[in-house]
Amino acid sequence: MDALPIPPLAKPSGRRKEPGNTGHTVPYYRVEMREVFSKLHRDLPPTRLWCVGGSFPGPTFDVRGGEGAMIEWVNQLPQRHFLPIDHTLHGAEADKPEVRSVVHVHGAKVPPESDGWPEDWYTSGKSATYYYPNRQDAALLWYHDHAMGINRLNIYAGLLGLYVVRDSVEDRLQLPAGRYEIPLVLCDRLLRRDGSLEYPVSGKPDAPWVPEAFGNVMLANGKLCPYLDVEAREYRFRILNGSNGRFYHLSLSNGQPFHLIGTDQGLLPAPVEAGAFVQAPGERVDAVVDFRGHEGETLVLRSDSFELLQFRVARTKATSFSPLPKQLRPVERIPETAAVRTRVVTIDEYMDAAGDSMKMLLNRAHWDMPITEKPVLDSVEIWSIVNPTDDSHPIHLHLVRFQVLDRRRYDPRTYFTTGQLRYTGPVDPPEPSESGWKDTVRAHGGMVTRFIVRFEGYVGRYVWHCHVLEHEDNEMMRPYEVVAK
Ligand code: C2O
Ligand code: CU
Ligand code: CU
Repeated sequence: MDALPIPPLAKPSGRRKEPGNTGHTVPYYRVEMREVFSKLHRDLPPTRLWCVGGSFPGPTFDVRGGEGAMIEWVNQLPQRHFLPIDHTLHGAEADKPEVRSVVHVHGAKVPPESDGWPEDWYTSGKSATYYYPNRQDAALLWYHDHAMGINRLNIYAGLLGLYVVRDSVEDRLQLPAGRYEIPLVLCDRLLRRDGSLEYPVSGKPDAPWVPEAFGNVMLANGKLCPYLDVEAREYRFRILNGSNGRFYHLSLSNGQPFHLIGTDQGLLPAPVEAGAFVQAPGERVDAVVDFRGHEGETLVLRSDSFELLQFRVARTKATSFSPLPKQLRPVERIPETAAVRTRVVTIDEYMDAAGDSMKMLLNRAHWDMPITEKPVLDSVEIWSIVNPTDDSHPIHLHLVRFQVLDRRRYDPRTYFTTGQLRYTGPVDPPEPSESGWKDTVRAHGGMVTRFIVRFEGYVGRYVWHCHVLEHEDNEMMRPYEVVAK
């Protein structure tokens, strides 16, 4: 019923000196987080949301690689939360203010003090000004709340948006741009009949946390099943899965393939054709869809049985085209021999002794235990994520980009009793769509997932975590520290 909204562009309100004594000034943005009421569908009453700027998703930052930016993130949220806080979770105890936030730009290579450390949250009326050097390749990044113990609620309430880095390498490819480049934030929400947002609860009033929150509606750029009028030509879709916990299996209703051209951290070496693909929370996909030859047709973007977005292709032939280049951007593989160490890290789900509360950890360590992952600046490491659980967990590291090496089935029982990795299946290479730079990887259940990473940029404390937000809030998140050489 509704046209697909496109989030507004963030506009700088001036320039500020960048940190350090460079003498340079950079664009300065000021955005407020506040409560808004927004119609998610023509026939629904407005829904209470917490947004950056006035929209859900928030304004899109569009920046050039190598040109810094400062953003002041202002908390103007109400004094009380409208979603169920679980005070038994670490960092969300009853002595903490209910409403607090801190913003992280996911995928940004930033100094630690601008990364949005989960405990650096601030309350309503306060703000933080962060510096983003943007010294990184063109890519679709995104920003979202990261407040310890409640970020699943804050993001669910609407605190998220896109952050696009562009550069000359990408410009030269002449990919579909302007009105032919469509940002697409997908997320699911549980809506009541009156249009209000519901967040599922456990049934235990003192411990409402649930291990997964799935919605009954799918939103595209904050609208329920919208449509997009398209010309019969190529379009570039910059897709974010901004859901708390839902994985998408995206396909087009007519079976036509996508041309995948990029992943989390930028362009693939060459386009990859895919009839369908999986996108976990936090992952980004850059895909070109060619509507040529479909004049007058109606196509639907779907995930399993859900319809997400309808395309209404114009009846007439298009007059402009953006032919897809054969090569995109070289992605130099990091040789495994460059790694100075391999870290074996585990994903853990536990029931407590009484069997009534679940803990989700990384490496069997709680958030506030001493830091164990201390890579050296500029060194290369291989991380082997051992996942004995039944589910796939999207594992994300702040600051860095990495390359997926492989996945392999192993025997969890042997690992549990002896600590030895006994492989029981063949080595699965990364999917073709994963052949670029990533910052979030699906670590499948019953498998060891390996990636190789160079810790470039800055020394200091960052975090790594599962991007299923319910897991992250229940301590499936750990600090790591890049240390000086
Ligand atoms: Cu989407 Cu800690 O990040
Ligand atoms: Cu991140
Ligand atoms: Cu998880």
